[in-house]
Amino acid sequence: MNQPNREVITRDVVIIGAGASGLTAATELKKAGLTVAVLEARDRVGGRLWTNDIDGAMLEIGGQWVSPDQDALKETLAELGLKTYPRYRDGENVYINAAGDLSRFEGEIFPVPPKTEHEIVSLIEKLDSLVAEIDPDRPWAHPRAKELDEVSFSRWLETQTEDQEARDNIGMFIAGAMLTKPAHAFSALQALLMAASAGSFSNLVDADFILDERVIGGLQQVPLLLAEHLGDDVHLGQAVRTLRWTENSVTALTDELEVNARFAILAVPPILISHVEYEPPLPRRQQQLHQHLSMGLVIKVHAVYETPFWRDNGLSGTAFSPYELVHEAYDNTNHIDPRGTLVGFVADEEADAMFRLSAEERKLRILTSLSHYYGEQALNPVVYYESDWGSEEWTRGAYAASFDMGGLARYGSDLRAPVGPISFSCSDMAGKGYQHVDGAIRVGRETAAAIVEAAR
Ligand code: FDA
Repeated sequence: MNQPNREVITRDVVIIGAGASGLTAATELKKAGLTVAVLEARDRVGGRLWTNDIDGAMLEIGGQWVSPDQDALKETLAELGLKTYPRYRDGENVYINAAGDLSRFEGEIFPVPPKTEHEIVSLIEKLDSLVAEIDPDRPWAHPRAKELDEVSFSRWLETQTEDQEARDNIGMFIAGAMLTKPAHAFSALQALLMAASAGSFSNLVDADFILDERVIGGLQQVPLLLAEHLGDDVHLGQAVRTLRWTENSVTALTDELEVNARFAILAVPPILISHVEYEPPLPRRQQQLHQHLSMGLVIKVHAVYETPFWRDNGLSGTAFSPYELVHEAYDNTNHIDPRGTLVGFVADEEADAMFRLSAEERKLRILTSLSHYYGEQALNPVVYYESDWGSEEWTRGAYAASFDMGGLARYGSDLRAPVGPISFSCSDMAGKGYQHVDGAIRVGRETAAAIVEAAR
């Protein structure tokens, strides 16, 4: 029943969520001649893409980097006329070992004892060859999918090498750096999907590949420009509370709007699908499978300084250590900015521990960790900011969602299966580009194409 105070709109497709995925889908549908309404809960578009001015510094609080294989994102950047610039990487990187010793290095392999280096190289080779067998769009189809999904990534690493430092480093690339969950909390299959989504495990290990470029003015311009082109079809501050559906119609209800459509796309992180009320309820399979996904947790920390002082010391700004609170950090200086910016990441259980502290104590602990890499000067930024995506009602974690142990093999193939007129679209459901903007765009395009076909 329509509430008397709700405005009623009728469109071919209602899209719930104005992130990169939903806006891409809406754009493609409109190009194909269908009418759309995009309903966004927040008072801004972009979801996990968010560029903001913090105390006079332009910071990318969510996604920002573009890598060379991300063709879908690159095509969108070109279409929108957005330009990129390379991440600063001249000079030496730093690594801190378990004893707290710092060494400088160049290339991809950390300066570890020769035996550990040998183990790291051989683990990378093993992972690369396993990843080559995985189709990122169908990881559950691998002949050993079930077996690989039953073993945690940390346990799998233990079966491969006795070298703790090798395990800690390889584990970090997927755990702290990507899924932002402890390596005991996700399966080897989930780890292989993460690597396969980027083309290979070697690509993930290579910061110069995976964190290659940024967009001048920030990556949020992608959703901002897509939304600008969609104009009045994007409705902000419209959290969808209820979806009423039949086999061939759907009604999305917000507090102010009722949108009647032939199709709906839920372009929200999969953990938020069950926060909408469905009339009738979604089928058993969907109600079950959404319970087996959860968001990771990472604090993205920005520290802005008067100058990029580490460069004077011959450092690139790239820093790693599985033994540091900030397990990875980079030079994140904006395009043609005289000030220097560092970005660092605190993941999973370390992030839990930090959020138990007062803001002051947390800042001190995080800056102290940065100072271990860059020296005392890192302790005194002029601007300091920690992302808190876990507190955002419409995201609830960072970077993205992944399955629990066994969930990918058991439920993965149904994650994107439409239910009646309802389709699902999000970076967290992508194969190639999984958990990245590239994946959000790919899935958005594919979902739109399927609806255009069905609408014929
Ligand atoms: P996204 O979550 O962005 O959008 C979903 C939208 O749905 C949101 O706008 C939300 O408000 C809305 N919504 C939810 N429920 C709703 C409801 N009931 N009604 C209406 N609207 C609703 N990627 C990358 O490529 N490079 C990078 O460097 C990084 N780094 C990075 C750092 C950090 C800190 C984060 C959090 C994320 C990244 N990422 C990234 C990941 C990247 O940002 C992410 O994969 C995509 O932006 C996700 O886009 P989607 O559109 O799929 O979901």
